[in-house]
Amino acid sequence: MSCVLFGAEQSIRTEFVPDTVWPDNNGVHINAHGGGVLDYDGTYYWFGEHKVAGRRGNSAQVGVHCYSSKDLYNWTDEGIALAVSEDPNSEIVRGCIIERPKVIHNQKTGKFVMWFHLELRGQGYAAARTGVAVADKVAGPFTYLKSYRPNAGSWPLNVVEADKQKGKENYLARDLQVGQMARDMTLFVDDDGKAYHIAAAEENYTLNISELSDDYLSFTGKYARVMPFGHNEAPAICRHKGTYYMITSGCTGWAPNAARSMMAANIMGPWKSLGNPTRGVNPHNQLGPEKTWGGQSTYILPLRERPGQFIAMFDVWTPENPIDGRYIWLPVTFEDGRILIEWHDRWSLADAAPASAK
Ligand code: GAL
Repeated sequence: MSCVLFGAEQSIRTEFVPDTVWPDNNGVHINAHGGGVLDYDGTYYWFGEHKVAGRRGNSAQVGVHCYSSKDLYNWTDEGIALAVSEDPNSEIVRGCIIERPKVIHNQKTGKFVMWFHLELRGQGYAAARTGVAVADKVAGPFTYLKSYRPNAGSWPLNVVEADKQKGKENYLARDLQVGQMARDMTLFVDDDGKAYHIAAAEENYTLNISELSDDYLSFTGKYARVMPFGHNEAPAICRHKGTYYMITSGCTGWAPNAARSMMAANIMGPWKSLGNPTRGVNPHNQLGPEKTWGGQSTYILPLRERPGQFIAMFDVWTPENPIDGRYIWLPVTFEDGRILIEWHDRWSLADAAPASAK
């Protein structure tokens, strides 16, 4: 039984049922795509892209939606955390593209900082910028600050001489002065409070991991390339027992492909490829690891009360009607130094592997 009946039609959910409609407290399917979850002050906050019906939903018509939850199954609508602007001169004017928003909390400044992939209105995916917004309260409203092509003028830590030569398809050198491209992205706050921005760069050929400034509002210029020309998108990262694990996808737009995973002892690398981390078949579409059950990674959520346990979050995109996109949340396991995610038709935190030390 997935839920307990409560009143006429409201119900309390006690399980995750991946790739199905997931109603919020108002009975409306959660609208937080390409999202991430912030664990703050005893509550989880899920931020994601608010999509609307029809193909126009593939661009930002509303903004970034926020939901809150104590138990991760039942989510309360907290409204729009970052609204698109009506000002045609704003970089976040309605009709721009805002994707994969992630929010972190800065302990030193007390501020909540949101970064997201920003594409300027009318330019398709050419701008490849990362945008930043800030708020005093966790659910917003967030104030838009600016957007970047990060790390302008800086070579990555792991640059080699050949990378510095300008030439066909040397996007790193091409973009040195203007800043590196930043598309699919995530954020990660390490145990020492340092925050990192991880984004697809170089025409999506390479992932860059960049250190953020102490206030999390800008880049320090220190960054590393991960898997140059590896064609990784949709980065999601966690740290387990001192090792960093990352899940990514290949680059096939909204269409699913096979997930990848990698590990590193140091967040700036070197990263080692671990292969496809997914197992099992999604009965709703019969897709398995060859297509990540029809989904694409977006975030790995550490569980507050279960140190060492994580939920991997994926989106099932429906670009013809983006508002209908479903979510796949599954438990993460670690086996023989690998990160693994197995399909479950339904599951609860109590079923997940016993908590182990961090
Ligand atoms: C995907 C990416 C999404 C979105 C889409 C557009 O590969 O992960 O966030 O950008 O392409 O086609």
